[in-house]
This record gives sequence, C-alpha cells and structure tokens, in this order.
Amino acid sequence: MKSLKIAIAGLGTVGVGVIKILEEHSAMIAARTGRRIEIVAVSASNRSRDRGIDISGYDWADNVLDFAARDDVDMVIELIGGSDGVAKELAQQSLSNGKSFVTANKALIAHHGAELAQSAEDNNIAMRFEASVAGGIPIIKSIGEGLAANRLTKVYGILNGTTNYMLSQMEATGKDYGEILEETKLLGYLEADPSLDLDGIDAGHKLAILGSVAFGVKTDFDNVYMEGIRRIKLVDIEYARELGYRIKLLGISSLSDAGLEQRVHPCLVPKSAPIAIVDNGFNAVVVDGDYIDRTFYEGRGAGEGPTASAVVADIIDIARGRSGPAFFVPIGEMQEARPVSISDRNGPYYIRLHVEEQPGVIADITAALRDEDVSLHIMLQKGSEQDGTVYVIMVTHETHEKRVMNALDQIDSLSSVIDKPLAIRIENL
Ligand code: HSE
Repeated sequence: MKSLKIAIAGLGTVGVGVIKILEEHSAMIAARTGRRIEIVAVSASNRSRDRGIDISGYDWADNVLDFAARDDVDMVIELIGGSDGVAKELAQQSLSNGKSFVTANKALIAHHGAELAQSAEDNNIAMRFEASVAGGIPIIKSIGEGLAANRLTKVYGILNGTTNYMLSQMEATGKDYGEILEETKLLGYLEADPSLDLDGIDAGHKLAILGSVAFGVKTDFDNVYMEGIRRIKLVDIEYARELGYRIKLLGISSLSDAGLEQRVHPCLVPKSAPIAIVDNGFNAVVVDGDYIDRTFYEGRGAGEGPTASAVVADIIDIARGRSGPAFFVPIGEMQEARPVSISDRNGPYYIRLHVEEQPGVIADITAALRDEDVSLHIMLQKGSEQDGTVYVIMVTHETHEKRVMNALDQIDSLSSVIDKPLAIRIENL
C-alpha cells in the first residue's frame, strides 16, 4: 500500500489532535483511503514542551519552510495561524513545489484564499481548509459538494464559539459582560488576540470563506462589516428575552442583484428560531438554496477533537485522490461581487438608551426618531435605577439602517442621555 507522506507545521491543540487521530485511527483511515497516512516530520516553536503525546518518532524541523522543499513530503499541514508571515510563506512554497496543502487557518484563507487557490490550480495540486470554518461541522464540504445542485442565496450562522459561550453564560448566570469576560479568559477560550473573538473578526474571516464557497465569489474579507459583543450588557439580554428574543453574534452573507452582503454583528433572533437554542461553544450554520429551501448544521466550533477531525477529513479527501478546485469552482470562474454596505440594511431594530429620569426626555428622544421617520413598535421603561437614571428600551418597525443611526446620533447629543445609545439589529430568521 503506497503511503501519503505528510508534514505537520504547528503542534498546538489542533496539531496534537491531528496526530492523535492519525495514530489511533490509522488502520481505519488506511482502509477508507487505500493509503497509509505517514507523518514524516513535525515542527513547532518549542520542541521540548510536554504535549501529552510522543513525537520522538517523527523528524523534527526547526524551520517549517523546510517541509516545502523536502522530497519525502507529499502534503503540508499548516496549523500555525496568522494571515501572513510564515503561514503564508509555507502555503505559497508548498503549493509551488507541488505539495498538497491543508490548513485550519481562517485568517490566511480569508485574506489570501483566491491567490493560494490560483497557485494550487496552476500547480495542479489540492488545497483544503475545512477546519477554518466552524470546527467540526463539515460545512465547506456540505456546501461545495452536498448542495452543489443549488443556487445558494443566503448563508448565516454562529461562527464564533467563544462569544456564543459568553452570551450564553451571561444569560444563564445573570452576570454582566465584564465578569463573564474575566471567567472566559481564565478558561483559556479567547484567541491570543482577544479582539479577534470580541470584535467579530474571527467570525468575519469565517464568513468571508463561507460566502466565497457558497456563492462562487472571490473571498472579500475587506468588505465584511464587523461589530462584536463588547457593548452587550446583561440588561439587553434580559430585555431581549422579555421581548421573545435571544441575542446571538451572527455572520450573515447573501448574494442578490444588489451584490454581496457580508455582515457580522449581534442580532436579536426569535427564541423559536433553531439558531436561538445553539448555546455555549457550539456553532451553527444555516444555508438557504433554491432547491433545498433551508438546511441547518450544528456542532462544536473549536477545540482539539472537532478541529482536528476536520483537518484529518481533508487529508483523507486528498489521500482518496480528490483534488478539485479549493473553492469548488476554478478561480477563473469566480466572480468579483459588488459589496453591499451595512448602511443599506432594512429591518427592525432594538434600541437601548440609558437616560436621566426627568421630564421631557422621552419627548426629545421620540422627536429624533420622528425626524428620521423611524416608527416605534414597542417601548419599555420600568421604574428607575437607584441613581435616578433609567433604561429605555425600544423596538422599531422595519426601517432603514441609516435612519436609525442618524436618529441615535441625535439622541446621543442630548444632555439627558448617559451612555452611547445601542442599536441591535433584529433578524426574524
Ligand atoms: N476563537 C474561535 C472560536 C476558535 O471561538 O470560535 C475556533 O475558530
């Protein structure tokens, strides 16, 4: 049986998981692929760190770029991370030296996916990145293969497990954002740069990849609108619940005659929506298409086992000899879609205001909404805080993003308004 020789760059959580699966399931994988997967070399920043696995049987490389030049390596697995630097160099050199390439690196694919796929195509080599989106959910393969008969119109989901965990925990424990953030840090759930999670950037990377696979458009991360969860307070989660909603950080992408819409932001979703009950570290993706109507996928979005499972599935795919285009259509067939701006969104909004409890405040607020032609559907104000301030919660009828933002700018300038007003988009999914 001819073996497939692989080199693994990066031995963090995912790299260790990949080695464990390949060792534990080696006979099963060989039976499924007709090839033995042989790890010939590994590399990481620290050779001696205790990882709970024995790596002494594999060659060690101090410089991962050596993998791209080795004659005894057929495939390079990149688990280093980062959109540029050594991860990108390794990708470029591996592909141009005829090594197939598997990565879990969402930032790399979101920023350079088209260019790398072009290189893979030019060299007639396979490139795969299933683990870059939604961990253990095989969403890239589902879209690119299982749904290939459909014109897909919309793809959206919970693409970041850390922030989903935080929002779930705020609701479950009644603790506010700051306290849950500290607990999440201690659990080690945040990316090395927490902004990637908290500001929606990680979800943005994944959304750009998903949209590209779903719609056959070139990955356009620069035009993803991203807003994270830093401004969500417990009071928002509580009022949302009272109004029949839950708050989720969603990535939403759709392709229409208007162009490609790509946005990541907190949303109020109806409690009854399937996505509303996806909690903690779980991810979920919904894909709408013309012949399937709607499909829904849920699973663990991160962690050793689920992410390594996706990486090994890619290795198996290539071992089976499947080497079509990385984004399922040749780069020459991919469109450059016109971006749709967030300011063109239409829909209802949840608005939270924190104001002084005094006469005339509501009149000033509603005047600003009237001036922008924003019509209210619901308004809530319950008693007042002990410090003489009060939260005013409003739900608008369907309206235009620009009008809401203009009204909030006006409201923000009122002397009776304490915190910057917050608007959360309502998505009646
Ligand atoms: N920070 C990411 C998340 C890790 O929380 O989903 C998996 O990509």
